[in-house]
Parts: sequence; structure tokens; C-alpha cells
Amino acid sequence: MSEYDVIIVGSGAAGLTAAIALADHCKVLVLAKGELTGGSTAWAQGGIAAVLDAGDTFENHIDDTMVAGAGLNRRETVEFVVENAPASIERLVEMGVPFNKDAEALHLTREGGHSHRRIVHVDDATGWAVQAALLKTADAHPNITLLPGQACVDLITGRHEERYSGSGRVWGVYALDEKTGKVHAHVGRATILASGGAGRVYQFSTAPRGATGDGIAMAWRAGCRVSNMEMMQFHPTCLFNLDVKNFLITEAVRGEGGILKHPETGHRYMPDYDARAELAPRDVVARANDDQIKRSGLDYVHLDISHLDPDFVAGHFPNIYEKLLTLGIDMTRQPIPVVPAQHYTCGGILIDLAGRTDLPGLYAAGECTESGLHGANRLASNSLLECFVFGEAAAKDIIARWDQLEPPPAIRPWDESRVTDSDEEVIIKQNWTEIRRFMWNYVGIVRTTKRLERAQHRINMMTGEVEDYYGHFRVTTDLIELRNLLQCADLIVKSALHRKESRGLHYTLDYPEMLPQAVDTVLVP
Ligand code: FAD
Ligand code: SIN
Repeated sequence: MSEYDVIIVGSGAAGLTAAIALADHCKVLVLAKGELTGGSTAWAQGGIAAVLDAGDTFENHIDDTMVAGAGLNRRETVEFVVENAPASIERLVEMGVPFNKDAEALHLTREGGHSHRRIVHVDDATGWAVQAALLKTADAHPNITLLPGQACVDLITGRHEERYSGSGRVWGVYALDEKTGKVHAHVGRATILASGGAGRVYQFSTAPRGATGDGIAMAWRAGCRVSNMEMMQFHPTCLFNLDVKNFLITEAVRGEGGILKHPETGHRYMPDYDARAELAPRDVVARANDDQIKRSGLDYVHLDISHLDPDFVAGHFPNIYEKLLTLGIDMTRQPIPVVPAQHYTCGGILIDLAGRTDLPGLYAAGECTESGLHGANRLASNSLLECFVFGEAAAKDIIARWDQLEPPPAIRPWDESRVTDSDEEVIIKQNWTEIRRFMWNYVGIVRTTKRLERAQHRINMMTGEVEDYYGHFRVTTDLIELRNLLQCADLIVKSALHRKESRGLHYTLDYPEMLPQAVDTVLVP
């Protein structure tokens, strides 16, 4: 067992922001599955939204966020995040993030749903620069221990106390050491889940392999409510390539003038769907691309920016340009084949403005949460921002409540006396593939009640099988992820069946209209 003051699950933008904000006050352990750079943060391309331009206002950013979110957002959260955005950017600049500049001012690019230029970025690889700066800062702090290769299995709660206290507290996590195969308890006065999204529940996703909703599933099992899990965001423009399956083509390509075209007729179709054309919010553009592909039996649509100056295109999107060249596509001269793919989990663990969950001692921040910021559809480049604001908010709340957060009691070690090594690994692969396929086909961009019920039926059948497997065999990262993927699939489908309207990212042919009142889908364990 290891003991620190605060245990953080996740080394992305949310987890590291919290760790850095806490480290002058207490000792922090940051756990990560696989490598420290394995989350979505390192993959972010477009940038971070903040009101920094003289002609822009907080009110504009708030309105754009609420319009994209189809009114499901909680206004106080939107105001809190938008108003804290400039300070978050300033902290990143202080940590050395080399944002692009126009003379002395930060260069602001534009993305769908934003009424102004307000996206700060580092070329087209913002996430990598942010991840590097946060890791460097965290690594240099003597109070922060970074521990990669730890796949957390479950939260440690009152049930795991040597002497049950009835406090209802969360005391940390049990984590599988991916090198030794042993499970250890890591305990602390407070725990923060910053474990990212559940995108890999879908067959096609821009998210990294580890985005299996582990934190959401762990929190649910421990007794936290989750909210709006039906709001899965699909990015309109993921590269279509049979070998490279999840390479994103940033929204900023459309922001800077890229247009979507039918690949056979060359017709620019977005104005037929929405007056904002290519700069409509993501749900609108993703549905239009899906419609074009299904209507004409296409494999992909075209995203074309070749009408702009080649030097501007290659200079503005250097990483995408280089990557595409290796695949034989010159984006300065020809269109890019693109398809929609799952991109972001808008729903998650319900938190308040201080990052507190339903359970005492448990906080959450970033993509694993539902904070009220995104509502029914996340506005582009608002999610890294959410990580910075809520990572900081959770840290501040822990510091403020320090005297009430008692040290952890003795905790029972992980019990593996009744399990053996698996002799049936094939079950994991089979179930993993099956979940991802039926989620894509039945719980995708356009839904129907019948398809959702089919998915629910399959989930019910698989749940017994996976739980039986989990009960008999030693845990591995694959098994932990499969169990969590299935749990998240269940939460998504239950939430989607619950919503009897179409709003934002949840579009169903059985209830195509939006109801007059926006109501969160809150599931109670
Ligand atoms: P992540 O960065 O995903 O980190 C999750 C962490 O949790 C990782 O360290 C992981 O190892 C750890 N973890 C997970 N499960 C476990 C476990 N069981 N045990 C231990 N550790 C665990 N947003 C923007 O605002 N702007 C953009 O330009 C942008 N571009 C994007 C491009 C791509 C391709 C993708 C996929 C997303 C993009 N997003 C963007 C979204 C944004 O990157 C994410 O929402 C954000 O980075 C999430 O950060 P996070 O800290 O919540 O989680
Ligand atoms: C992108 O660059 O298109 C992704 C931006 C985001 O997900 O916010």
C-alpha cells in the first residue's frame, strides 16, 4: 500500500493541472495507465478557446457555448469556465507553452460554432505542447510523484476499510501494476478522477486506445450519479484511410476556409443544411457528412482547402500536411477524404463547480465529468479549457477543506485468493470487438428506439459473461477496460433510451423534435 495526501487518476490536462495546483500544499501521486502521454490531451490539435481579442466578450463565448449545447448547459458553469479562461491561458504561457503569435499578441484561430476568433494554438499540435509543459512542471516539483503503468481497477471506499467506519468516504484506488501484474492500494485524504473519456466504446474514434471510460465506470460502481451519457460527440472530419484509422483533421481547417464537397459531383453541400455552412456546430456538420455518405453510398466526403495559398496551408497545419504527404495526399493541391468518427464524451460523472462528486473525498475533472459546460454538444476547443478550470477548482477545494479531510484508515489489500490466470483471452477480444461494432451501428450519429433496444439486449447478455470472467480470473488491463467499456455502453444506451426528444448530439428518428424544456439525463446507481 502507498500513502500520499492526494491520489490523482490521470496525467492529462485535468490531472496534471490539479497536481500542480496542489503541490505547494501537499504530497500528490499521479497515476496513469500506460505512458504519461497516453491520454487525449497529447493528441489535441485545434487549440483552447478563450476571450482574448478586443472585439470579443465573455457574453459572446457564453452564448456560443449555450447555442452549441442546445440549451442543456448549466449557465453558471459556462460563466465560471469562460470567465476563468484567460487566467488559464496565462498560466500555460508561464509554464512555457509556445502559443503561436501575431506580432506580440497570441494568434487566434477560428472553429465551428464560435462567433469570433478565440482559439489559441500551437500550430496544429496544441495538445502535445500543453502536455509537455504540464509534465515538465509536474516532474520538477518535489511533491509530485508521477507513476505510469498503473491501470486503476476500482475506487477504495468504506467497503474496503479494515474496520468499517460508515463514513461513506473514498480513500483512493486499487491499481494494477502493468509490469508486475500485482494490484496495489494507493490511499490518500482525497482522490481526483481525471481519467478522460469513453470514446473507444465506438468502432471508429479519434481518441487514443485507453479512452475506455474507466473513471466513469469506477465512479458509477462506487455510487456516483452520471449524467447526459447519451451526448457522444462525433467529429465531422476524421481522415478516411484504411491503414490510419483515427487521424483527426482539425476543425481549424474549416475555420480557416476549408470546404466540404461531395467527392463525385464536387457540390459544396453544407449551405444546404445550415446557414453557417462549414462553421456550424459539430453535431450539425457531422450529421450532414453522415447523410451525404449514407444517401450516396459513399466511403467518405471531401474536405478541400486547396483553393488557399499553399504556403499558408502548409505553414498553418504543418503536422497534418506532413502526415498526409506520407499517405500520398497533398492538401495544398487536393481534397482530403474524411468521415465522421466518435470524438468526445460530453456526459460523465456529475460534479459541482468545485469538482466534487456525490461521494465524500472524491473529486473529478476533465472529460470524465459532466460539469454542465457542454450541455448537449461541446463547442470546439472548450474541453481542454474545462480541464484547466476544473483541475484548478478541485485543487482549491481540497486545500480549503484540508482540515476536514481526515487521513485514511487501514485498508484491506486486494484479494486474489479466488482467481486464477485466464485461459480464455479470446473472450476479451471477441466482446471488445462486438461492443464497439454494435455501438457504432446502433448507437451512432442517427438513432432509433429499436436500434437502441437491440444494443441494450446485447449489453444485458454480455454483462453476465464479463462479470463471470472478471470474478474468476486475475485482472489485466484488457479485462479492466472491457468491463468498463461495457459499463459505459450500458450507461450510454440507458441514457439514450431515456431521452424522448432530439437535442444536440442525441438525434433519434422516433423523436425528431426538441422538447420545450432542456432536462439532464441523470442516472442514479
Ligand atoms: P486525458 O488527457 O484523456 O487523460 C486521461 C488520463 O487518465 C491518461 O493519463 C490515462 O492514462 C489515465 N487513465 C485512464 N484510465 C485510467 C486507469 N484505469 N488507471 C489509471 N489511469 C487511467 N479539446 C480541445 O479543447 N481542443 C482541441 O484542439 C482538441 N483536439 C482534440 C483532438 C483529438 C484527436 C482528441 C481525441 C481530442 C481533442 N480534444 C480537444 C479533446 C481533449 O483533448 C480532451 O477532452 C482532453 O484532453 C481530456 O483531458 P483529460 O485530462 O480529461 O483526459
Ligand atoms: C479539432 O482540432 O478539430 C478538435 C478541437 C476540439 O475537439 O475541441
